[in-house]
Amino acid sequence: MKDQASRATIAGRHASLASAAASAPTKKALYEQLDSALRELMKDQTDFLANISNFAALLFTSMPNLNWAGFYLLRGTELVLGPFQGKPACACIAMGDGVCGTAALQRAAVLVPNVNAFPGHIVCDDASQSEMVLPVFKDGRLVGVLDLDSPILSRFEETDREHIEQLLRILMEGTVVPEFRLAPTD
Ligand code: SME
Repeated sequence: MKDQASRATIAGRHASLASAAASAPTKKALYEQLDSALRELMKDQTDFLANISNFAALLFTSMPNLNWAGFYLLRGTELVLGPFQGKPACACIAMGDGVCGTAALQRAAVLVPNVNAFPGHIVCDDASQSEMVLPVFKDGRLVGVLDLDSPILSRFEETDREHIEQLLRILMEGTVVPEFRLAPTD
């Protein structure tokens, strides 16, 4: 068991990693900082909820122009709200519905430059203007999706998708995912 002083030191280090990333001058620098911050956060920690919660918090507090960042996790044929940062959101999304359900069904990233032009977009926060949803896999099996919302139009680019997919690979490689969280094997 870690003592109170070392726990405080660890918490301080995590917070400073996130703020270092937040002040990165370029997108490349931001993602380099996020890569190291994530590896540091996950050191000696493989717990599913702990790691995905910290992942959502790291992105939300470090990436510019986000108003929501979090996970929807697969449960049967629907997605259920998981750890997130931002305003309270809808709890369940059916497979194929909205941007999240589309990404989960297609098992592919969906980048939406203008949410008002996406048929079936589910509004959780009126401030959201653009959105990016990425499927999350563990050993090739779907776990859920990561949803990022922005209050500005066209916030997300292909380069964001590539870098965040890489961060999700690091996340899932170092995380033990309970069997019930995983899509059945084909
Ligand atoms: N906009 C999403 C719903 C989730 S919230 O944005 C947090 C969608 O259309 O699936």
